Amino acid sequence: RRLSLLLPASMSSSSTRTPESVVADADALARKVAAIRAAGAAKLQVIADFDGTLTRYWYDGCRGQSSHALLRQGNEEFDAKREELFEHYHPIEINPDILLPEKAKLMEEWWGKSHGLLIEGGLTREAINKSVADAPIAFRDGVVELFEFLEARDIPVLVFSAGLADVIEEVFRQKLHRSFKNIKIVSNRMVFNEEGRLVAFKGKTIHVLNKNEHSLDMAAPVDNSPEDPNGSTEDYSLVKKRTNVLLLGDHIGDLGMSDGLNYENRIAAGFLNTNIEKSLKDYSEAFDIVYLDDAPMWGVVELVSDLC
Ligand code: TMP
Repeated sequence: RRLSLLLPASMSSSSTRTPESVVADADALARKVAAIRAAGAAKLQVIADFDGTLTRYWYDGCRGQSSHALLRQGNEEFDAKREELFEHYHPIEINPDILLPEKAKLMEEWWGKSHGLLIEGGLTREAINKSVADAPIAFRDGVVELFEFLEARDIPVLVFSAGLADVIEEVFRQKLHRSFKNIKIVSNRMVFNEEGRLVAFKGKTIHVLNKNEHSLDMAAPVDNSPEDPNGSTEDYSLVKKRTNVLLLGDHIGDLGMSDGLNYENRIAAGFLNTNIEKSLKDYSEAFDIVYLDDAPMWGVVELVSDLC
């Protein structure tokens, strides 16, 4: 692919590109890297989206599944109803012609109905565990090494998702085979009864268009519930003091994850997994560095090793 043909004419003279990544303004990125490095690891935090960012977009030639999509309730009627909701609302989610306030209302409606079906259908922990074991989902190569690098330097990682916290935690458990004390998951969290059946969701719903309104939730104290596989120990009110941010996302809307954090420097790294020709201009303007074609995490590993 001739990337030079795809890049916006307005890009800085310091733009760089490799087959795997594009940097629209390499000088600006270098300045941010230098500032973050000078401030030290104690000032840095990482905020990452989950689906399509930490996980691969493609899995064995098929779309990797999201934490919502992989879930099988063990009740075909309810699985089919959630699938019907997806068929109806997903085209709305990706339709650029629907105005944001209207779209946000519809997304709220989708999440509400979907969560309602999971409760009504009596989702169990067992069904979550089995769904994850059967699912086509995998972390990008290099994610474990990234987490290890950050853990060794006590740099917190906040995984921020409009998906399902309990499913994401199970993916961590089953696919990483180890826990990380520096990782906290902020997502829609389930409440189970004594028999292990879902009875409610905690707090306000996080959907794709209101992540920014929840960014401060990340600074809340950690819920060290016994089932939290990561058992995070960082006092998350301290993350407010970590004023340098490395943000990882796969949608331009993911940039809202750092709203409300009064950061001094932010490096935004974006994964552009699909529609590259159509979206590269917008992505390269929005993100400091764009990784193309469902790239592995090695580029980010290299980037953080320049930061601390
Ligand atoms: P995120 O993980 O990137 O924050 O987004 C969550 C995705 O979940 C979003 O693209 C829509 C999808 N989704 C489903 O597949 N099924 C559902 O029932 C719901 C509510 C969302």
